[in-house]
Amino acid sequence: MSDPIYCDQAATSFPKPAAVIEAVHEALSGHSASPGRSAHRYSLSASRIVFEAREVIAELMGQEDSDRVSFGLNVTQALNTALLGFLRPGDHVLTTSMEHNSVMRPLTWLAESRRIEVEAVPVPARDPVDPREFRSRLRKNTRLAVVNHASNVTGVIAPIREIKAALDGVPLLVDAAQTAGVLSLAPVLDSADILAFTGHKSLLGPTGTGGLWVRPGLEVEPLVRGGTGSRSEREEQPGFMPDALEAGTPNTHGLAGLAAGVRWILETGLDRIRAHELDLTRRFLDGLAGMDGPTWYGPESADFRVAVVSINLAGWSPSDLALALDREFGIMTRAGLHCAPRAHRGIGTFPTGTVRFSFGWFNTAGEVDRVLAAVDELARRSV
Ligand SMILES: Cc1ncc(COP(=O)(O)O)c(C=O)c1O
Repeated sequence: MSDPIYCDQAATSFPKPAAVIEAVHEALSGHSASPGRSAHRYSLSASRIVFEAREVIAELMGQEDSDRVSFGLNVTQALNTALLGFLRPGDHVLTTSMEHNSVMRPLTWLAESRRIEVEAVPVPARDPVDPREFRSRLRKNTRLAVVNHASNVTGVIAPIREIKAALDGVPLLVDAAQTAGVLSLAPVLDSADILAFTGHKSLLGPTGTGGLWVRPGLEVEPLVRGGTGSRSEREEQPGFMPDALEAGTPNTHGLAGLAAGVRWILETGLDRIRAHELDLTRRFLDGLAGMDGPTWYGPESADFRVAVVSINLAGWSPSDLALALDREFGIMTRAGLHCAPRAHRGIGTFPTGTVRFSFGWFNTAGEVDRVLAAVDELARRSV
């Protein structure tokens, strides 16, 4: 078998730039003291790592005030913090049929236990969500809308600015899990009031990193309370960002890796990364279109999607197809429902799901061609 091909970038990015690995190693070997807790030199250098990570994330987001960025474990924790820390009993929240369970599960729990009303706007199978669908569902008690910037099932990109305009001032929470590190977040933050990100996907950092950006003037109650190294004389959680949302010792070496990943992205250029991923996506979609057997989901044009393409192949279950791709061709994909059952209901692929191919900077056109050849071979075998 020739070299393996990793097409599961939407789950987590691989490989990581060498600078990321070096930064984690250096932080663990050189500065593994507790940041923000002591005044000795090792603690200060750990604090600097966290500070620099915050600064570089803010730079990527086009924000001057890095204190509005709080770090946590991943986007799931960030979304839980935002949803549980912002919504109150009796609130109505709008979301979409494309959301990941990291939005739907906390919302379902809030609906069952906190009298929060949840309404999901349907997203068409081939098009982005229609912003007017938000406007027509607004109620007096609508307190928040939550939308992913791009779907992890079809890759469709949501029109964030138009959605915000349709919301008539209602705050908007954006799940940027699939876009941070690929699409520019600065224009998104002109519209979003809260943005959740994860560090290990296109931001190229290690797992165990992510966070929340909160617009100045907006308050999100913490999910977790505890030591911050600040205002230690008080037994109440500090109210100021980022400490309000950062109880407990942070993942310093993970943040060192995340900062290196973001620096690498800034040096490489978001435009170049996006252009490369668009090329790969177009190449893959064009190749599929020339074959008998595959059905693919989401927008016809790559311009409306990130580099995520879900398919089914006549005669194959998604799990058998993913297994054959891995075992016979060394091609790694993800089969099933991708933690987004409602999205699969919307595109008609529930309960078996699809096989998802997702590409990143380190994938090549040659790899896409090998993936297409493998899909073609398996398509012929099934008939
Ligand atoms: C749109 C979306 N939201 C949330 C998540 C959850 O990401 P994490 O596991 O990093 O919290 C993912 C990734 O699987 C995703 O694609």
